[in-house]
Order: sequence, then structure tokens, then C-alpha cells
Amino acid sequence: MPYTVYSGCVVSPSGLSRLSILPNGLLCVDNETGKIVGVHNDSKSAPESLSALLKQWVGKPVDESEIKSVRLKDTQFLMPGFIDTHTHAPQFSFIGLGHDLPLMDWLEKYTFPHESDFKDLDNARNLYESAASFTIRNGTTCAAYYATIHLESCLTLVDILRKRGQRAFVGKVNMVQNAPDFYIETLDETMDATVKFIEEVARTRPEGVTQDSPLDIVKPIITPRFAPSCTMECLKKLAKVAKEHNLPIQTHLNENRSEIEFVASQFPGSDSYAGVYGEAGLLTDRTVLAHCVHNTEPELKMMKEKNVGISHCPNSNLSLTSGMCDVRRFLLSGFKVGLGTDVSGGYSPTIMDAMRMAATTNRALTAEKIASKTGLNEEDTTPLGVPELIYLATLGGAQVLGLESQVGSLEQGKQFDALLIDLETENSPVPAENVTPSVKNEKNALTKWQRRIEQFLYLGDDRNITNVFVNGRLIHSL
Ligand code: GUN
Ligand code: FE
Repeated sequence: MPYTVYSGCVVSPSGLSRLSILPNGLLCVDNETGKIVGVHNDSKSAPESLSALLKQWVGKPVDESEIKSVRLKDTQFLMPGFIDTHTHAPQFSFIGLGHDLPLMDWLEKYTFPHESDFKDLDNARNLYESAASFTIRNGTTCAAYYATIHLESCLTLVDILRKRGQRAFVGKVNMVQNAPDFYIETLDETMDATVKFIEEVARTRPEGVTQDSPLDIVKPIITPRFAPSCTMECLKKLAKVAKEHNLPIQTHLNENRSEIEFVASQFPGSDSYAGVYGEAGLLTDRTVLAHCVHNTEPELKMMKEKNVGISHCPNSNLSLTSGMCDVRRFLLSGFKVGLGTDVSGGYSPTIMDAMRMAATTNRALTAEKIASKTGLNEEDTTPLGVPELIYLATLGGAQVLGLESQVGSLEQGKQFDALLIDLETENSPVPAENVTPSVKNEKNALTKWQRRIEQFLYLGDDRNITNVFVNGRLIHSL
């Protein structure tokens, strides 16, 4: 069927603190291109027939026989898919382990040994399949993955994601120093493999799909692991490759205090950690910086000038005792901000958890600002609300990854990367509506859908995510 029209509740961010909720919305998808051809605010005021409505949107007559009509139940709603701006696909192999260690010890004890096993392609295929299954089932329609240093297994991850249909950036990790001898490369090896990776991803692009098309769902991203793993020469060469191939960049920044001290000792000529990346040419408007917990004012100024994106990884920051990133201040300064699970510095692979951990971190920082009277103003101590948390999980993430014209919200002209949520599935962790009704004397009572969406945010999980779509294609259903 060329078109699908959904009628029912459609939820989508329409700005940082605005969430559009259309209880009786109509949303039409072109199944060939995966594009949303139109969204109508209220089915009650829409033209009588779907073909008349579609004619308005597509500009030509559309026969009823070309339209599949899907009516949502009153326990269901559509929302944009979750975007994970920072995660490590190989680290699913030790997820949930080692959280009593700080970052640098955790890398040495767990991360490097586990990642080195990805030179074995069978191991890579098995583990990457399960990482893809897990993230897709939990509603991640787009993710920025770090793979490992191994070219072949990086390509295996690309292949798996293309087959599964998850939108992604995949980074071949670069590591030429401060790593064990079983998991390190020379400068020539890392640069050769990076260029080969970029070329192979382009060569194996699905037939008929062009590079700029949203149907080209898996793309490379330049991935120096973090400053300690790379020499300045290596960082500079990677920045050059990013520029030549017009690619985004991802790395870690200011995650943990010992890490920051180590960077200062490794790069004595640079005035700050962000300054190392700046000097190398790695700070661009397509750079994704994970963590950014402990930043100095001059670093923030430079990051803002370069218009970098921030990946907020609250579970990881708490689980590895790194600290608390003040997202409210990043947002007030106009930074692009999205959420990252950072598996397995973070123990949860779901963006639903990232929203909750972002809320918890924000509450703790807000309480601290109020207690110490260091809140800059009222806005600075306003807790993140539901619209902002959903924004960070969707449109904010799309902006960080430079995909905001294609995905991140359910709007005409964007791709249908979406979730169908059902609040009353079997064993649903969200209480049934009649268990938590709105009551007569509740002040400023929320609408039914405001209540239900907030409860989904704090209590829901994969048992509520009944369908997952990327480019209009169903990639998971319960
Ligand atoms: N810094 C460098 N590598 C890593 C990693 O794998 N995880 C986290 N959380 N931080 C890092
Ligand atoms: Fe990370």
C-alpha cells in the first residue's frame, strides 16, 4: 500500500519546552520514501475522506485503495523514535559490570580486554546482533556507536545495522597510545583502517540509495577514542580526514577528574582538554562531545563558538562516579544537547533510562544550587520537565547528530522514525488509567494525555513499545 494514515494521539516535540499532543491527530506516511506527507491536528475537522486529505498533501488524486488506515486505540500514541547520541556497541559484552571502579581503572580492567576480543568476527557478529536487538526493542531508532579498532568487525556492525534497519553512525575507534599492547595500533594502521572503513561503508551502500538520502541509514563518523588514546599528530590527521570526507566527529571530553589530569600531563602545550581537540581541528559544528561534566569557562566559550553538540550521559556519569553534568546550563547557553546511554559506562541501554537519569541528575544539581544559593536565576533552578526530557531524547539528539531536518519529530517532510506506544499491554509497568485517575480536586489538573505521557516517561519500558519504525519501515513489533 503506497500510503498509511494513522489516526489517534500523536506526540512530538515542537521546541525545547513545548510538547505537541494531538489527541485526535492524523498522520500520513509515504511508504516508499518513508516520509511523513502530512499531519492534521484534529481528525474531527479533517476532510471527510482520506483521499481528499491526501490530495491536499501530495498534490495529486489518491485512490482510497492506495491508503492503509490504522486507527490507534485510546491507550496508544505515536511519538518520534529515541536517539542515542553516545554508546559503545562492543561494551554490551560486559554491561552492568565494574561500576565500583573509576573511569581509567574500568577502561583497563574491563573495556580494553573486552573490546580487544572483537578482532574475532564471530564474537563481533554475535554481540553486535544482540546489541542491535536490545536497542531497537527499547525504541532507539538512531544511535551514534563507537565500535572497536578492528576494521572488519566495524564493517560487520555496519552490515548488521543496515539489515536490521536502525539508523546509525558507526565509528572505527582510533587508539595509538596509552593502551595495552593487545589493543593498540600504529599511526599508519589507524589512519589506513579509518580511510578504508569510510570507503567500504560508501562502496557497500544499498543500491539506488544516494549518500545524502535519509534512506542511507548507516554512516561513518570519525572516532578518536579520547585525547589520552591519540597523539596530537593522530588527532590532526583525523580532523583532516573528517574535513576531506565531510564527516561528523565523536569523542569523549571532561568526563572524570583523573582523566582530565592525565590529559594535562600528556598535552602540556595545550591550555585545556577541549583546547587539545580545538588545536587538532576536531571541534566543528558536527562534533559530538560525550560527558562534558567538568568544564572551565574558557572551554565552554570555545565549545559554543564552534557550535559542538553535547551528549549528556547521566547514567554513566553517576555509575562511574564521574560527576554530574549541568544540562540546564548547557541549554540556557544555547548548546545542542542530546542524551547518551554510554553503554557500558552506563548500565542501561535504553534512552528511557537516560531521560530518568537526566531528570534525577538535574534534580540533585538543582537542590544543590538552591541550598548553596548558586543558582544564577530562576530559569537555572527550574527542574527539567516532561517536554524538555522528551526533547533531549528525540529532537535534541537529532540536532546533535545533524539530522534535525530528517528526524527527531513527527512533522511533515521528516522521515517516519517513530514509536507506537501502548500503555496497557500485558504486564505493562505503567499503571492502568483507572488506577491513577485524575481527581476532581486536583489543582491545575493535567489532561489525560499529559498524565499518561509523564507516567510512560517515568515508568514505561520495552513492554510498552509495541512498534518501532525507521523510514516508515517496521523494524520491531511486540
Ligand atoms: N573514555 C574513553 N573511552 C571511554 C569509554 O569507553 N567509555 C567511557 N565512558 N569513557 C571513555
Ligand atoms: Fe563513552
